[in-house]
Amino acid sequence: MDEFEKTEGYEKPKVIEEGIWVAGEALKKAPKLYGVPTGIEGLDNLFFSAEIKDGKVIKKSLGGIPAYSVTNITGVSDTGKSLMVEQYAVTQASRGEAVAFITVESPAPFVTVGLRERATAMGINFEEIENKIILIDAASHTSLRENIPNLLATLAFAIKNYKVKHTLIDSVTGLYESKEMMARTVVRQLFNFMKKWYQTALFVSQKRSGHEELTAEAAGGYAISHIVDCSMVLAKELILTPTQSKLYKKPIGEIVRLFRIDGCRMCGHDTRTRFMEITELGLVKIGEPLTGG
Ligand SMILES: Nc1ncnc2c1ncn2[C@@H]1O[C@H](COP(=O)(O)OP(=O)(O)O)[C@@H](O)[C@H]1O
Ligand SMILES: [Mg+2]
Repeated sequence: MDEFEKTEGYEKPKVIEEGIWVAGEALKKAPKLYGVPTGIEGLDNLFFSAEIKDGKVIKKSLGGIPAYSVTNITGVSDTGKSLMVEQYAVTQASRGEAVAFITVESPAPFVTVGLRERATAMGINFEEIENKIILIDAASHTSLRENIPNLLATLAFAIKNYKVKHTLIDSVTGLYESKEMMARTVVRQLFNFMKKWYQTALFVSQKRSGHEELTAEAAGGYAISHIVDCSMVLAKELILTPTQSKLYKKPIGEIVRLFRIDGCRMCGHDTRTRFMEITELGLVKIGEPLTGG
């Protein structure tokens, strides 16, 4: 025993055998890669997997976001983040899959009105899906918003009781308000929970206007994008110069909305910056890629 090992509190390093996996065994525990349709027009075909067919590698559309992934949707206010998660919630519910919707900013009854609006705009009768959407109101309950263990225990309860397959959080930013240095810790806890419970999850995070638009640092700042599986960045820009007008093919004075998948480690994906639209009925649509000036 050397001097260091004699010091109080020294623990002899242990082999954590559970931490070792042979890839073949690990694969048996891995969920199959397949897409979950989002109900957001233009989004589902932006994710793909590689397949070997007749000795050739081909690209195959997943037809949705990868199942069991945790996606961060980020952007400044009014970029369509909430609309996107509402569309996703309504879509899963209409496919017969239960959704937990953790609302952190707006009380549950207000969110429900939004969900009903979204359903109607999508041609779905809300009465047929209303029991598949389980709201967890962290906006009204400080004991949920400011206590992550309480929040996760409540979510686990909802997942078990309602057979929830999808969890949405609008927004995670509200869970570390005024303690932003905790952002990574909070998001890491949420991420681990989603994996343990096999959830396909969307986390909304708010981007401050100071963060650069449409970049990795834009993805929620505070390196949230390193924790989650996928990041989507939403932006809006006011067209003020002839150059912008030419690039975005819109007149000066108009708003252009942009969308980009800023990384997804679960599967292949489109990497281009695309036009995004919010229809008059409040539905997000992903459009064509931006082409140079
Ligand atoms: N029901 C609706 N009908 C039409 N447009 C809407 C509707 N709801 C929201 N919008 C438009 O979409 C924008 C983005 O909304 P939202 O998803 O709430 O933004 P975020 O969550 O990113 O702050 C709003 O600012 C508004 O212009
Ligand atoms: Mg919002």
